Amino acid sequence: MDRFEPLRRRTIVLVGLMGVGKSSVGRRLAAALELPFRDADSEVEAAAGRTIPEIFADLGEAAFREGERRVIARLLEQPPHVLATGGGAFMSPETRELIKSKAISVWLKAELDVLARRVGRKETRPLLTGKDPLEVLKAQAEARYPSYAEADLTVETGDTAHHVTVDQIIRALTAHLESQSK
Ligand code: S3P
Repeated sequence: MDRFEPLRRRTIVLVGLMGVGKSSVGRRLAAALELPFRDADSEVEAAAGRTIPEIFADLGEAAFREGERRVIARLLEQPPHVLATGGGAFMSPETRELIKSKAISVWLKAELDVLARRVGRKETRPLLTGKDPLEVLKAQAEARYPSYAEADLTVETGDTAHHVTVDQIIRALTAHLESQSK
């Protein structure tokens, strides 16, 4: 048995605010563990045949949230993989419960000014359009951290390279599974 085999038994779900690296870290984590990678945002876009900004503009945020909920429920039926969720997904109590029952969840957490700097570079997030990213992230942190804290594990990342975060996640998952099997 290789040392990652226990980590491949359940889907690993990454949650956390925009810009924390759920997708880029998730992709590298999946490669390291030799698991498939899924990105909930991309799957919602594929299902809707539209980009996220288009979904928000054409159909509204509520429709996006409903699509997100359905997509994640479908993905959680699939064999174990690494799943990056959008920042709002874990706010749905139904999604949270599903993730708790079918997967292991990791909250990726970083200082808000690090996140603000990262998200400032892109135009793909409708919740940030025309707004000060740090202000949006502060409000989201206040609203969302109590729910994110329900994740099985929390990994604090700094402004570090993704492979460092991947190592931190693997260590945290390994320790968690070991403590559970005792
Ligand atoms: C959102 C985060 C985005 C995307 C959508 C809404 C949010 O995903 O799902 O723009 O509510 O925080 P990322 O966290 O991958 O940026």
